[in-house]
Amino acid sequence: MRVFITGATGFIGSAVVEELIGAGHQVIGLARSDAGAKQLTAAGAGVQRGSLEDLDSLERGAAESDGVIHLAFNHDFTDFAASCAKDEAAIEALGGVLVGSNRPLVVSSGVLGLAQGRPGTEEDVPALVYPRRSEETGLSFASKGVRASVIRLSPSVHGDGDHGFVPQLINGARAKGFSSYIGDGKNRWPAVHRLDAARLYRLALEKGTAGGRYHGVADEGVPIRDIAEIIGKRLGVPAVSKSAEEVVGALGFVGQVLAMDAPSSSKLTQERLGWRPTQPGLIADLERGTYFDAK
Ligand SMILES: NC(=O)c1ccc[n+]([C@@H]2O[C@H](COP(=O)([O-])OP(=O)(O)OC[C@H]3O[C@@H](n4cnc5c(N)ncnc54)[C@H](OP(=O)(O)O)[C@@H]3O)[C@@H](O)[C@H]2O)c1
Repeated sequence: MRVFITGATGFIGSAVVEELIGAGHQVIGLARSDAGAKQLTAAGAGVQRGSLEDLDSLERGAAESDGVIHLAFNHDFTDFAASCAKDEAAIEALGGVLVGSNRPLVVSSGVLGLAQGRPGTEEDVPALVYPRRSEETGLSFASKGVRASVIRLSPSVHGDGDHGFVPQLINGARAKGFSSYIGDGKNRWPAVHRLDAARLYRLALEKGTAGGRYHGVADEGVPIRDIAEIIGKRLGVPAVSKSAEEVVGALGFVGQVLAMDAPSSSKLTQERLGWRPTQPGLIADLERGTYFDAK
């Protein structure tokens, strides 16, 4: 398959490029800079120059493909609403080209906010009023002749090169001299390794059904206290309980996410796509991975 990927130069996207090429697909990645284009060429992918702001470039990439994976997102959370609006416009542009073709469109979302007090499942729909509407926008194309599906990722997609929430917790603990959790720290985050996530994108592309919701979840729910303790141990600082206000004050947006209890299951995803996570879990990755290597 000739696959157009946005976000192909990112942490997860670069693993998806490698996974697809390894499985015999041809990949065209979106690049908005010379450095991005160079990275894609070195990985064996073709290049579509453009950006999320240039909808024509997205339409060109989608038009010349047999399927699309959308991973690009601007993670500058200072203007999250604007990033979400841009994401929605991008998905509309990509999906619009695929209408009536039965070609696959795989978009990216998250598992946070699916359920309270039990693991969220693929059958749940997001209950939170959330400005990011990647899932709704992407799946709206399922009724328009597009094999549109969504991958809901864990709040921690971990592995070498991670620059998401976990490194922010590590940096916060390093700066403050302690690693924090909220209350008893029993609230949980699901997690998945980026290489397992990459395989899931390939399977959704190849086998996903129109309207399919798939969970990028390997660890159903890692207690936040366990994450704080391993970070504390690796940095040689104490892990301490703080109030939600203190943690949000110290860590900002990631502090708000740290307060969430969001266990999530991928049982149906595993059954439906034959996906099996094989990489280390989050705690093992923090024990043995490169998170604490000198930069
Ligand atoms: N990492 C996680 O833990 C995690 C968890 C849940 C959900 N997700 C979601 O998974 C997806 C991929 O995440 P990631 O961690 O791989 O992200 P990332 O490493 O930050 O990469 C973002 C990608 O988007 C591209 N991009 C950003 N703004 C762009 C623009 N205006 N025009 C064109 N390209 C643009 C970047 O291109 P450049 O290389 O040019 O910057 C890069 O390829 C995102 O939708 C993210 O929200 C990630």
